[in-house]
Amino acid sequence: MSRTQKQPSYLGRPIQKKTIGDRVVRFRTALSNTILDVLKGRGWQEVQGDMEWDFYWCDVGWMREVFDHFYMEEHCRINHFRNHYELTRKNLMVKNLKKFRKQVEREQGKLEASKCDFFPTTFELPSEYHMFVEEFKRNLGSLWIMKPIAKAQGKGIFLFRKLKDITDWKKESYKSQEERRNDDKEPVETYIVQKYIENPYLIGGKKFDLRVYVLVTSYIPLKAWLYREGFARFSNTRYSLDSIDDTYIHLTNVAVQKTAPDYDPEKGCKWSLNQLRQYLIARHGIEAVEDMLKKMDDIFIYSLLCVQKIMINDKHCFELYGYDIMLDDKLKPWLIETNASPSLTASNQEDYELKCRLLEDTLNVVDMEGRLTGKEKRIGGYDLMWNDGPVTLEEGGLDCMSAPTYTTNTHLGCFNDREKQLKQLFRSLQMAKKTTTV
Ligand SMILES: Nc1ncnc2c1ncn2[C@@H]1O[C@H](COP(=O)(O)OP(=O)(O)O)[C@@H](O)[C@H]1O
Ligand SMILES: [Mg+2]
Repeated sequence: MSRTQKQPSYLGRPIQKKTIGDRVVRFRTALSNTILDVLKGRGWQEVQGDMEWDFYWCDVGWMREVFDHFYMEEHCRINHFRNHYELTRKNLMVKNLKKFRKQVEREQGKLEASKCDFFPTTFELPSEYHMFVEEFKRNLGSLWIMKPIAKAQGKGIFLFRKLKDITDWKKESYKSQEERRNDDKEPVETYIVQKYIENPYLIGGKKFDLRVYVLVTSYIPLKAWLYREGFARFSNTRYSLDSIDDTYIHLTNVAVQKTAPDYDPEKGCKWSLNQLRQYLIARHGIEAVEDMLKKMDDIFIYSLLCVQKIMINDKHCFELYGYDIMLDDKLKPWLIETNASPSLTASNQEDYELKCRLLEDTLNVVDMEGRLTGKEKRIGGYDLMWNDGPVTLEEGGLDCMSAPTYTTNTHLGCFNDREKQLKQLFRSLQMAKKTTTV
């Protein structure tokens, strides 16, 4: 997105505070898209290269190469956990989920463990090839999808029905690597092979998946926030199982769809989660949609819990995850993958404004300026969904003379009245401060 794009008017509004104590917050960023606009719009000061910073929006390469040798003062913040890949590498995520499912079954029984059945059957290749072949034979005729573990944006992905198709791939893959490296012992690139969801929920005959944003500010205790807004990404071409080689039908990545000959950047191929929520409620009723959303909450929480114990919990770190979720024709949500660097590049003005709101609220939660009490359950478009346990909203109680009932504090796809909420929040924080200092 070009930096000349119109900046949303709420950036730099008066409720902003841009200092730590008396000093302006100094930031560094590896990206020059929406995040740079938001950081600047906040009145923070950009620093370059080796200069000292308070806040760094870094890339995962920096985490791998520099983080371990880098000293950070207490107040500094950075946007990744050191071993974020435990959840965001496709093969590791599935390994960790499988392990966690077994543990839940041992400790809490089959029913609870069945809540973890939200990822399609998956194997790592080449290491689990034999296990995959056994499963393949048990499900002859099924469709499978191959995905390289270290690529993104739909790159290197293909679908197949016959085992022969991957024997050919294996040979091809060995051959091309031999040619490249002239070393016939070089292993093939690691892939995952996964059951293809053949019955996706379709709208207008087209397949889509959902991008949902979850912010983790601590793993021990686990503290996770769910953003109200997100979007559905549609494919450009009507769904069909006749042409399994057509990526415009089967891969919903914007990076893939925008290369389609009839792609229109202004129209785009996205719906907001609010639009989708309303569409689904109109078709299936509120109960069915709430049941689906509850299952999505389970996906976020169980996937975070499955890596909680192995994450290096550093108080300087937070992570903004981009979840890829698909719905099948029975409205069951499936976890496709979790991204550590969800795209912050905007595909049009609407998308730009959404990403600015998301990032602005991410900075509000991270709270470099020290304005919050730490007890907030809602900050702008973020709702606290897990705080060492489920976060609930109390309803009923004294006012309506009934016993209180508890519902989860998640509002995915609900109206995001963040500006109003932020104004109220910061006003009440200021009032509380005044009364304690008087
Ligand atoms: N198991 C699956 N069943 C159906 N479609 C899938 C499946 N896995 C991936 N896809 C489609 O392929 C796209 C890209 O897959 P994903 O795992 O997100 O890889 P990438 O890292 O390249 O984005 C998804 O957005 C979805 O549209
Ligand atoms: Mg993806």
